[in-house]
Amino acid sequence: MRDAAAAPTRSGVLPRNDPRQYDDLVDEWWRPDGVFAMLHWLAEARAALVPPADRPGALLVDLGCGAGLLAPHVAGKGYRHVGVDLTRSALAQAAAHGVTPVNGDVTAAPLADGCADVVAAGEVLEHVPEWRGAVAEACRLLRPGGLLVLDTLNDNFLSRLVAVHIGERLPTVPRGIHDPRLFVDARALVAECARHGVTLQLRGVRPEVRGLLGWLLRRARGAAGAAPDGRAPRIVPTRSTAVLYQGWGVRKG
Ligand SMILES: C[S@@+](CC[C@H](N)C(=O)[O-])C[C@H]1O[C@@H](n2cnc3c(N)ncnc32)[C@H](O)[C@@H]1O
Repeated sequence: MRDAAAAPTRSGVLPRNDPRQYDDLVDEWWRPDGVFAMLHWLAEARAALVPPADRPGALLVDLGCGAGLLAPHVAGKGYRHVGVDLTRSALAQAAAHGVTPVNGDVTAAPLADGCADVVAAGEVLEHVPEWRGAVAEACRLLRPGGLLVLDTLNDNFLSRLVAVHIGERLPTVPRGIHDPRLFVDARALVAECARHGVTLQLRGVRPEVRGLLGWLLRRARGAAGAAPDGRAPRIVPTRSTAVLYQGWGVRKG
């Protein structure tokens, strides 16, 4: 019998959050109007939290980098961009966009303690069965004074409603990509980061409504991509962290 949590992908039926979905969707990563479109918008918003490197040879470690969508937004800031991911097909695309690929699990990254000036963990914690292990690993990789930037989905009814029951019916989120049981409680995340020496600040974010509606309309007409003025929908701050939120904080020395 089919698992109630199972959801269709292009290649058949896989359990929710099964990483093989990323192989099935490999051609979608860099399509601006593909099912990963929102990841592009979020990558731009995440990159805005990353300052230019303050020393030669600075390293940005991108945990769960996927196909390297962060790369164009941090290019020019002076970092060597290393990406860690489970999915080899995504890593191959990340490498083609200038990311040094490392095939591995974000809970056990094969990188040295304190190697990173910046650790980015965008849209990955909510995919990791033991997100606390990924947070510990992110903080281990950070040098004292290094910056952690992340975004993820909160763990509550509203978040499940918006991200899964509504979001996965829109063309910006692949169906079945999330397992809502893995969503990350914001207060628990702040506490976990503090345990590892990072005081995390949070803010809620969401796609700008007019930009998103315009994008959905253009996509329905088969002409999505950027808006006529050349901009993709922007991710903007919002008062509530109840659904999608960003976090950033510096590791204590
Ligand atoms: C939603 S995508 C986000 C990709 C990228 N951070 C972005 O924002 O474009 C999640 C990524 O996390 C990876 N991933 C999930 N669990 C992982 C784990 N335990 N270790 C390493 N990568 C993981 C998946 O392969 C996928 O590429």
